[in-house]
Amino acid sequence: MLTQTDKAHALAERLGGWQNGEFAPGGAPISHIAKEYGTPFYLYHGEMISERVRRVRAALGGDVEVTYSVKANPNLAVCQLIARERLTGAEVASSGELVVVRAAGFAPEDIVFAGPAKTDEELKMAVDEGIFAVNVESLNEIDRLAAVAEREGKKIGVGLRINPAAQLMGSGMRMGGTVGQFGLDEDDLAEAVRRTLAHPDHLVLRGIHVYTATQVFDADALIEHCRNIFELALQTADLAGEPLEMVDFGGGFGVPYFEKMEEFDLESFGEGFQGLLAQYRSDPRFSGCRFVFELGRYLVADAGVYVTRVVDVKGMKGKTFVTTDGGMNHHLTATGNMGQVFRKAYPLLNLSRVSAEPGDPGEGVAVVGPCCTPLDTFGTNIPLEEPLVGDLIGVFHSGAYGYSASNLGFLSHPTPAEVLVWQGEAHLLRPVGKPEDVLKGQEALI
Ligand SMILES: Cc1ncc(COP(=O)(O)O)c(C=O)c1O
Repeated sequence: MLTQTDKAHALAERLGGWQNGEFAPGGAPISHIAKEYGTPFYLYHGEMISERVRRVRAALGGDVEVTYSVKANPNLAVCQLIARERLTGAEVASSGELVVVRAAGFAPEDIVFAGPAKTDEELKMAVDEGIFAVNVESLNEIDRLAAVAEREGKKIGVGLRINPAAQLMGSGMRMGGTVGQFGLDEDDLAEAVRRTLAHPDHLVLRGIHVYTATQVFDADALIEHCRNIFELALQTADLAGEPLEMVDFGGGFGVPYFEKMEEFDLESFGEGFQGLLAQYRSDPRFSGCRFVFELGRYLVADAGVYVTRVVDVKGMKGKTFVTTDGGMNHHLTATGNMGQVFRKAYPLLNLSRVSAEPGDPGEGVAVVGPCCTPLDTFGTNIPLEEPLVGDLIGVFHSGAYGYSASNLGFLSHPTPAEVLVWQGEAHLLRPVGKPEDVLKGQEALI
């Protein structure tokens, strides 16, 4: 079983390894990037993202489409890199994400829009853009979408997001198989089909969407879950009396952030899924159907590292505290503040002193951010190599749910930069914020 330090070293190696004792992602020494662009910053590795997309597509087979769940990382350049991998679509959850994916080059016919609380303005945007499907989350949303499409004089695709009765076991966080705000109750399926078909001039039933869980590691349980989705899809086609154009299986492939977690076995899942698909594929109710997986973290998490600088090192009653210039304000998930039940540390390394061999891990230190709360902690017993003021600390597995998932305004520290290493060069995607940015967009009272 790999330790967190072993994992961090393995990720550092994949991101480009080290030169002269320091981390050098894509061949660029981290101290040079930090000097040029300032700290803290998120660093993404372009080739790793592309490779991951290709690996997923190869494992799932040519008949399956992979869409990128933009919420994981809505950075424009990241979305562009994924859009370049042809046959890959996008799943958005807001009008802002729709703007990003259109700017990134995703074609409207490859975009689906899922998520609760879509406003009429957002539905209108989806209709005007002519995206493939709005995945509706309630019966009411079907009627609202029909009304918007009618006002616009257009027709829009509908995916019925179903919250199935059966739970997906072996996952980190559930959004289905339980009572909640996500999707239509499986018991309402017949009514949802009826309501969609009641608007033949403005709605077209594309198919179904089931996304119930994230952080799934059990490939066999996921296969069984997919079998259930195939059966639900057949039921939907029967209710509609016509073949389906889309079955969206969600995804939720896990990323092993924490101690004792093993990689999701993509190849074994892919093999199992292809076998399952072979059983259903020739059913006329799936003739011309698009089979879709929507993945967020699995495509981008490993390709990102959050880099923050040591501002202070202090000892207190035998414990060493390493304080850094960014913390929960920039990386909420890595400080365990986004729904984690147990707070555990991501893999961390001192990037300024990384050694080629994962050797003596040294004394466990607390790595803490600048926000005035004990919640702002990356870990309390991290085996960092002799951290000194000015060193750069890397938080790995940070390409997903980082920048955009954080409370960037908390404590009004400058926002982090975003940097992409691609084709051997470091590109600045977004500069580090300035203290005076805090006044931007605010009106003074007097
Ligand atoms: C509807 C939907 N699809 C896809 C995702 C992406 O999940 P993950 O990043 O675990 O792949 C989410 C995450 O919340 C989601 O709500």
